[in-house]
Amino acid sequence: MADTVKKIGVVGAGQMGGGIAQVAAMAGIEVVVHDAFPGAIDKCKGLHSKLLARAVEKQKITQADMDGALKRISYTESLDGFKGVDWVVEAIVEDAKVKHDLFQKLATMLPDEKVVLATNTSSISITQIAAAAGDAAHRIVGMHFFNPVPVMQLVEVIRGMQTSDNVVDRTVALAERMGKTPLKANDRPGFVSNRVLMPLINEAFHALMEGVAEPEAIDGIMKLGCNHPMGPLRLADFIGLDTCVHIMNVLHEGLGNPKYAPCPLLKQYVAAGRLGDKSGAGVYDYSKK
Ligand code: 3HC
Repeated sequence: MADTVKKIGVVGAGQMGGGIAQVAAMAGIEVVVHDAFPGAIDKCKGLHSKLLARAVEKQKITQADMDGALKRISYTESLDGFKGVDWVVEAIVEDAKVKHDLFQKLATMLPDEKVVLATNTSSISITQIAAAAGDAAHRIVGMHFFNPVPVMQLVEVIRGMQTSDNVVDRTVALAERMGKTPLKANDRPGFVSNRVLMPLINEAFHALMEGVAEPEAIDGIMKLGCNHPMGPLRLADFIGLDTCVHIMNVLHEGLGNPKYAPCPLLKQYVAAGRLGDKSGAGVYDYSKK
């Protein structure tokens, strides 16, 4: 299926939203990034310039590519700036209520049947978000990117119970146009990626808690023995330990099996405010970096 998307609205100027906007702009698509916090927009703008300049330095892209991409990205503090978009990707906080309210608003603001409303959620039910969008439920789809977005190849395309075939096909086409490899999954807790990844990370915390090995050894064994680019504890810090606990809770509640309960040590790190890279420390200390 040919993809005809001309302008994408990205909600959320954080790491994921910023990455999605950058990749879309590099694919020749106009993008408007919305965030209610001016500080987040400034940070996102700075990161776009910095990451693209680094790619020019490394001769991965030309100066003209960079200038073109930056020209295609605009930023807005108000959702009114989304007038004329024909696709939305939401990448805000992982809070079901906040997402439901946003999608209700987007469905009313953008009533055109052709406008797809995608969510980058890592764990919240697409079917429930769609239910909050009322008549627009068939236009809601999961478009799950991975961090760092410019580097990671996958887009997990998640079909909610009400998502139309046409919307799934168009999501696959758009992800391909963005240079990614889309793979489809159904709307079950954690989809495929986090259903498989998070129990691995959780088990690494159990191994650490039981003193099976030091953190560096647990990570080194998985890196060198299984060819993972990062060990599971380092990856947990990179993702955010609070996010890991949140996703384990979604798996635990949604699948009802005690094997998905978050490891007590993982929860303890979060209780101590050691959330990983973003707080300066998690399993490892990043304060000197
Ligand atoms: N943005 C853009 N580019 C970045 C980047 C970022 N934040 N971080 C690294 N890169 C680029 C570098 O510029 C470099 O590019 P080059 O090859 O063109 O020079 C390339 O990535 C490799 O970077 P480095 O040499 O600095 O470091 P590494 O080789 O150690 O790679 C990594 C870093 C790509 C992050 C690698 O360690 C990796 O792939 N880790 C696993 C990441 C992963 O599993 N992500 C998924 C997390 S789960 C998720 O997102 C889902 C959610 O639902 C939880």
